Amino acid sequence: MLLSIDGVSRTYTDSDSTVHAVDDVSLQVAAGEFVAVQGASGSGKSTLLLMAGGLLKPDSGHVQVNGQDPYCLKPDARAEFRAQNIGFVFQQFHLVPYLSVLDNILAPALAVSEPETRARARALQLIEQFGLSDRQQHVPAKLSSGERQRAAMARALLNEPKLILADEPTGNLDHNNADTLLGYLSDFATAGGAVLLVTHDDRAVACAQRVVHLQNGRIAEPVVNAVSSRR
Ligand SMILES: Nc1ncnc2c1ncn2[C@@H]1O[C@H](COP(=O)(O)OP(=O)(O)OP(=O)(O)O)[C@@H](O)[C@H]1O
Ligand SMILES: [Mg+2]
Repeated sequence: MLLSIDGVSRTYTDSDSTVHAVDDVSLQVAAGEFVAVQGASGSGKSTLLLMAGGLLKPDSGHVQVNGQDPYCLKPDARAEFRAQNIGFVFQQFHLVPYLSVLDNILAPALAVSEPETRARARALQLIEQFGLSDRQQHVPAKLSSGERQRAAMARALLNEPKLILADEPTGNLDHNNADTLLGYLSDFATAGGAVLLVTHDDRAVACAQRVVHLQNGRIAEPVVNAVSSRR
């Protein structure tokens, strides 16, 4: 199992309030699977994705990615493990503001020992695939939201991860760009990767083999995706 989430919970506590953002969620994504997560705003989708990605330690429960619990690793080892195994697309992109598109996309190569020429060739290939060739020297502030979103996706793919975790990755894209990105993710899963995608986009849901619904931090009954099961 590429991603195994076992009974994870996460509460956010401020001085005057407590939010049970994710409450005892279990979810598994195998190699070759494309799974979509849906749910109302505030239902805990991003919190769940951050925990799956080794970026937010659950209060309780366990996460395993490719057989390894990232939270058992020391910070440096965890960062390297994440860079090798997980491509993460943040809801707010989190591109580095003072780096060009090309250097943002290349950034994950710094965490793994890949020869610079190979990483660069791959970054340029991704830039072309995601239609960013004429924007590669721009900093994020000079990009449209959709261009930033595509750059964030290209960055997530640079190290050829085994698992992609993407938070609303088509939220700012027109139909053509959304189709390109979803096609890429579908091919990635078909080639043996695993995809867990948070989305409100029906086109993205149609690509998924399975849809998980979150409600107030808990999983509602899993449903087989009627669109993809008809194929
Ligand atoms: N850092 C934080 N501190 C306090 N509360 C938080 C924090 N992050 C999220 N929350 C709360 O936890 C709940 C779940 O938030 P989360 O961001 O996971 O939801 P979401 O399903 O991704 O929503 P959206 O669709 O709007 O992105 C919300 O009630 C939110 O206000
Ligand atoms: Mg969110």
